[in-house]
Amino acid sequence: MTLDSPKEIYIDNAATTSMSKEVLDEMIPYFSENYGNPSSLYSIAQVARDAVDESRENVAKILNCKPSEIIFTSGGTESDNMAIIGVAKALIDTGNHLITTKIEHHAVIHAMEELESTGFEVSYLNVDKDGFINLEELESKINSNTSLVSIMLANNETGSIQNLSKISEIVRNKSKSFQKEIYIHTDAVQAAGKLDLDVSELGVDLMSLSGHKIKGPKGVGCLYIKRGIPITPIILGGGQERQRRSGTENVPGIVGFSKALNLANEEKNNFNVHCKKLTEELKLKLKNLKYEHTIITPNENALSNILNVCFKGFEGEPILIGLDMAGIFASSGSACSSASLEPSHVLVSMGIDPKLAIGSIRFSFSYENTSEEVEFLINSLESVLSELSILAQT
Ligand SMILES: Cc1ncc(COP(=O)(O)O)c(C=O)c1O
Repeated sequence: MTLDSPKEIYIDNAATTSMSKEVLDEMIPYFSENYGNPSSLYSIAQVARDAVDESRENVAKILNCKPSEIIFTSGGTESDNMAIIGVAKALIDTGNHLITTKIEHHAVIHAMEELESTGFEVSYLNVDKDGFINLEELESKINSNTSLVSIMLANNETGSIQNLSKISEIVRNKSKSFQKEIYIHTDAVQAAGKLDLDVSELGVDLMSLSGHKIKGPKGVGCLYIKRGIPITPIILGGGQERQRRSGTENVPGIVGFSKALNLANEEKNNFNVHCKKLTEELKLKLKNLKYEHTIITPNENALSNILNVCFKGFEGEPILIGLDMAGIFASSGSACSSASLEPSHVLVSMGIDPKLAIGSIRFSFSYENTSEEVEFLINSLESVLSELSILAQT
């Protein structure tokens, strides 16, 4: 593959993002002069404690909740694990049934499977060809043993957005009819910086977020836990974060996460306009591509920045390698499963033929991508697919 790339073109922002300079600048003092442990009593430690407290207040403002309802974690995976395992264990006496969907991130699916291995029952909701759950199926699965429903806000592979406020209305009504609390968790890792994260509008009791998807640092995120919700800690130790998540706080990470969330939230509308334009341009240009393909991302109710496309008769990996040689970085399936050739569980659950699903490429844009890059991408795709077709014939 001999295309000359003008520069590196990063179109894998759902896997991770570059960190913004403003976020980095905010973090640096907490690696150097303000290095105190927030749990200590002397003054340099208080500077760190204040920074953590301010970050918590800032995050709470964006989520429209109380600062005491925010727990800082090591990111989306831990937040998902904590929400699911923590609530399920705390409520074991009131019920052992949980509900989720077949298209969740593995941080949710594997946590559910772990609970199943210890006697919990899990219902995995189906999705339609666009990746949306059926609200009637959700309603029918809730029973008197259900303690938690975990449904992602936006999918990391296709960008499909679930109707969380409708979902929470259904769960609340069922909860009333069974006269027991049934809690709702949402993984909003991909939604941050694109959608409104107001927890009361969404009607959720727990929500997971991660820093590195919003131009913040890796290894930090948060879990919103509505006041009064019982949760058993999954990380034990010194009792930080109000006894709910032990471990010395990642002060620079927390400061960076808070700053990144602030910027992402402020920039949300501009981000969406910009990225929607790029995904529409890409869709339009794909129409003229010589090679058969299916656009998986739904036209409506999808994130502005993700376009998942399956190329018929091709495998995703060789396409990615070809694009990489042209200086373009994208992803096949989710980043976490990109080392495997298995079709994505998300696409298979949407009823896509596994033979087509292995040809899936996810393009995910950011504010930094341009129309020129989309043009270069489409030309590169054409060359890569052409070379792969020739190779397949020899
Ligand atoms: C939807 C979703 N949930 C959870 C995670 C895990 O987040 P983290 O990488 O911060 O552990 C990811 C990351 O790919 C994700 O896309």
